[in-house]
Order: sequence, then C-alpha cells, then structure tokens
Amino acid sequence: MCGIIGYIGGENSAGKLATGLKNLEYRGYDSAGIALIEDGVDVYKQEGTIDDLRIPSAKAQLGIGHTRWSTHGKPTDENAHPHTDCTGDVAVVHNGIIANYQDLKAELPGHVFKSNTDTEVIPHLIEEQLTTGAELLPAVKRVLSRLEGSFAIAVAHAETDGIIVARQDSPLVVGHDVDEMYVGSDVTAFIDYTKRVSYLHDGDIAHITSDGFEVFNDGERVDRPVETVDWDASSAGKAGYDHYMHKEIHEQPNALRQALSGRIDTLAGEVDLDVSLEDEVFTQCEHVQVVACGTSYHAGLCAKRLIESVTDVPVTVTIASEYEVHDGFDPDTTIAIAITQSGETADTLAAIRTAIGYGMTTMAITNTVGSTVTREVDETVHINAGPEIGVAATKTFLSQVATATLFAVFLGRKRETITASEATTILESLRSLPSAVQEILDDERQIRKLAHEYADGDSFFFIGRKAGHAVALESALKLKEISYDHAEGFAAGELKHGPLALVTPRTPVMAILTEGTAPAETLNNVKEVESRGAPVIGLSSNGTAQSFCDHVIDVPEIGLLEPFAANVALQLFAYHVAKTKGRNIDKPRNLAKSVTVD
Ligand code: AGP
Ligand code: GLU
Repeated sequence: MCGIIGYIGGENSAGKLATGLKNLEYRGYDSAGIALIEDGVDVYKQEGTIDDLRIPSAKAQLGIGHTRWSTHGKPTDENAHPHTDCTGDVAVVHNGIIANYQDLKAELPGHVFKSNTDTEVIPHLIEEQLTTGAELLPAVKRVLSRLEGSFAIAVAHAETDGIIVARQDSPLVVGHDVDEMYVGSDVTAFIDYTKRVSYLHDGDIAHITSDGFEVFNDGERVDRPVETVDWDASSAGKAGYDHYMHKEIHEQPNALRQALSGRIDTLAGEVDLDVSLEDEVFTQCEHVQVVACGTSYHAGLCAKRLIESVTDVPVTVTIASEYEVHDGFDPDTTIAIAITQSGETADTLAAIRTAIGYGMTTMAITNTVGSTVTREVDETVHINAGPEIGVAATKTFLSQVATATLFAVFLGRKRETITASEATTILESLRSLPSAVQEILDDERQIRKLAHEYADGDSFFFIGRKAGHAVALESALKLKEISYDHAEGFAAGELKHGPLALVTPRTPVMAILTEGTAPAETLNNVKEVESRGAPVIGLSSNGTAQSFCDHVIDVPEIGLLEPFAANVALQLFAYHVAKTKGRNIDKPRNLAKSVTVD
C-alpha cells in the first residue's frame, strides 16, 4: 500500500503534490518522490520521509507523486517512485503489486532497469507501445490488459496533456476544482484544496486534464458522478475514520488481497512464495519452530494448526522471550520462523538470532520490507498489508494468518502430504476470505450495538477450540489493549478446570462456533456459562449458535478459514467498547507499536 497523488492546472504543482504526499504519508512512508512535467519529465525521489524530499521551486503545471511502502525491492533512492522508461519521457507511480512483473520483464530485452521494483515494467511496457506510434491513452490501455495483480497507477508523459490513471483493487479518487484537477489514493490527498470528488471503480481508466476527465471501463465510456465529501482537512490521514485502528480494520479485505496477489494458482492447487531456498530445505524439514510476541504469537498458533493440518511436520510455537533451544534436535532439518509485523521486535530478533546461532534455516513472515529481521534470516515472506499505524495490530494479524496458510499449503505440496485438489479447497477458502471479511464489516452496526450493550461488563471472556482458541486469545488481547478492561481468552474445554469460577451475569462470553473450531463441543461450554447467568454472543456460520446463544453474529460460510473472519467481528467489538469508554484507541496507555527493548 502507498499513496498516489496527481495534479494538473495551476503553476504550483510541486507545492500541491508535497501537501498531498504529506497527507498520504500514513499509507506508506519508506520513500517518496514526484515527477514534474515542464520541459520534459523531472523526477525528484529518495528514500526517507516526505520531509526529507527535496521539492524544487519549479513552475510545472502537471505532476504526479508517490509515498512508498515497499513490496518489491528495499526502500532505496532507486526503488522510490516515480519510475521512468528508457527515454525518460514516461513517468509512473504505482500502488500495489504487479504479480506477473517477472514474466513481463523477460519480454523487454534491451530495456535498462534501474530498480528492483515490480512497478518499473510499466513505463517500459508503455514505451514499447509508444514506439509503435500509439497515443498515450491507448498505449496505457494495452499495457493494463497485460498486468496481473492489484494496483492503482498514474502515468504522465513529457509531451502529452493530462494524467492517465487506472485502478484494479486499489483505490483512486479524482478531485475537481476550477481549472484544476487532482487524483489521489484517497480524498485526504487533496482535501486541503477541494471537497468535490469522483470515485473510480475497479477496471476504470481515466484521462484527466485541467478542465475535466473522461473515464472508460471495459472499452465503454462511463460516468463517475461528482460528489461532495462532508469532512475536511482536520480528518486527513485517517481517510475520514475517527481512528487508524478503525480504518485498518476496514482495510482488511484489500490487505488480504495483497497478501494473496500473484501467489496462488487455485485451479492447480499451487502456491508460489518466490522463495530462493533449495527445495530440500522444505522436503527434508522435520521440525518447524515459530517465534513471535503478542498478536504475532497468536498468528503463530494459527500457523501451527494450519501447517500441522496439511503436512507431517510438527510445529512448536514459542513466545519469543521464552525461546530456548534444547539438545536432541537436528538444526539441519529445522526451520525457525519469526512472525513479526514490524520486523524490529527485540524479543523476536533475539530468539531468531539464537536459532541462527544453532545453524537452523531461518525465515521471517513480516510486513516491513528492509526491517532488521529481513536482513538476518535466510528467507523472508512479506505479508504486504500496507502500513499499520494503530498500536493494536489488526490487519497485520489477518495478513499474517493468510500468509501462514499459504506457507502451509506450499510446504504440504512440496512434501506431497496434500493433493492438488486438497490444496485447491484450502486456497478457495482463502480466496473467499476478503469478501467474507467485507460481509462482517458490513454488519458493523449490529456489532456496535452489542458493544454498547455490554461495554460495562466486569470482565470479558472469549472461548473457542482449535483455531478458535487462537482467535479467542487474540480477541481478548485486542479488547484489553484498547479498552483497559479485563479480558481473557480460553480454550473452551478449559473453562471447567478453573476459570468457570469467574463467570457471573456480568461477564459476557464470546463463543467462537465456526467451522474448524469443533463447535458442537464448544456448545457444551456455552451451556456451562449460560447456567451461571453469563450472556453469550456466539459467532457461527451455519446457525449453530442460533438456539443456544443470547446473540448471534453470522460468519459467512467459507470453510476452514471461518474463525479468522470471526476475528474481524471481535476486533470491531473491541473497538466499539473502547470508543464508548473514550479510550485513546490508536495509542493505548503504556504500549508502543514496535517494542525494541528486551
Ligand atoms: C498487538 O496488538 C500488539 N500491540 C503487540 O502484541 C504486538 O503484536 C507485538 O509487540 C509484536 O509485534 P511485532 O509483530 O511487530 O513483532
Ligand atoms: N510494489 C511497488 C513497490 O514495491 C509499490 C508498493 C506500494 O504500494 O507502495 O515499489
């Protein structure tokens, strides 16, 4: 995820692009750049924040800009956007991932590439089209038909009026003013200047000039009405949401799509993680050791369930600060995996360094390109969730789980412990997850009502079995982090071994009853708490909860991965309980986003 801005009209394009980038910085902030079109294309870009970027005092009337959150290639000056073609006449900024960039690059012999990004193929492909005599708009259209993945792009050309933009699974909004037009990844990009906007749809390609725009979809001219937004610059950065956490919860469908982009072949039942480790590392592996903290530890518990369900490899998951290595295992056949959204957590780094010291193969599952962990392990798989600002991790949890599912299938196929058709079933469930999450988000009003009803409970208990247990732990952590209420997650079967003593009519219980969580057994535990007077909110996909619980949150039927969709409902529950109490949701007391001390 990143921020795109484009401007055409008055003479101060550099200043307007800079303001836009500053407002978009929350979407990505490892490097930034702008291209100004005056007498040719002038590109100014570098690693670092927008504040580091040298903005020229040019009088260009057209420009595009980008604040990057890397997915392909480290944050460096060369990898920063905009990217240009060999002639230097075409400039492109891009948000998202071009899944087939390597195949496309292979078709461009003779082109000199200056970066390691997926993006750079786009200006070179456009250049190829232009050399056949095509105009810019048809040239970009033809190139778009070749791109796979999720993306939004903006293209400018030295000698062509206007900006060409296109979107596929990544947002783009056009801003209207008198003789001036804007385009941005969201309204915050230009909210300082105009509130009149048109939202582009997936598959749209638009030609924006200073006095208007034309939009095409599937070859047809389409109308995208002008609307007026009812919020202003003071909300910039949160895209209209009150909190980053709320925004990030809502970004999950797109974050998941990015995690999956270019990695799965559902029909063939195959996963491509683009790893460079030898196949033997995976086929001869006898043990996987996961190390992680907090929410990432909960993602590790999910990873264990997933890996053990499709391979013959035992998985241990250890809280990183508790990690020790004992004799009696073979480091040559052990893979240690650090799960860490930041890639900078001191406890996790210490644990993975211990594993490195013992000679294990090490991997990281992380959100942060270029982070410390990526420099130390043998292999990294990025979750591509986009930046997460809220201290409470939400979208990175789900993206870690999705990536762990990919890894499980990848390992199962390498070891031939699952068939292609079994893999297809799991990958289909994974592909359904973004829309299932969207359905839960669409049900927010009901979840908010429940949060308001129970916000003054004494304690909150979350129960589940199997993956539902990991989700219960994670949901309780979320609630305690941001509401400061006492909350606990339990393996449902453990209640009767002690915690049941705490249950009263003032302790709401959330029961995870979806597919993959042994709901029939958990219903026995629901009855145990109900007979002590506790109100129960059940999360189920096929009516399991209907006749047993006081309230039901419906989870779409998607099979194996239903518990993770249920997790989103409980993120919203935690958010609304905390909001009701007026907590500092994005910066909860005593907590930091990245814990870089032991
Ligand atoms: C999650 O909401 C937390 N703020 C915290 O538990 C976090 O998951 C933990 O500190 C690990 O961080 P990491 O994923 O960046 O390593
Ligand atoms: N995939 C592109 C890159 O790594 C764009 C990432 C983004 O959305 O910022 O440069």
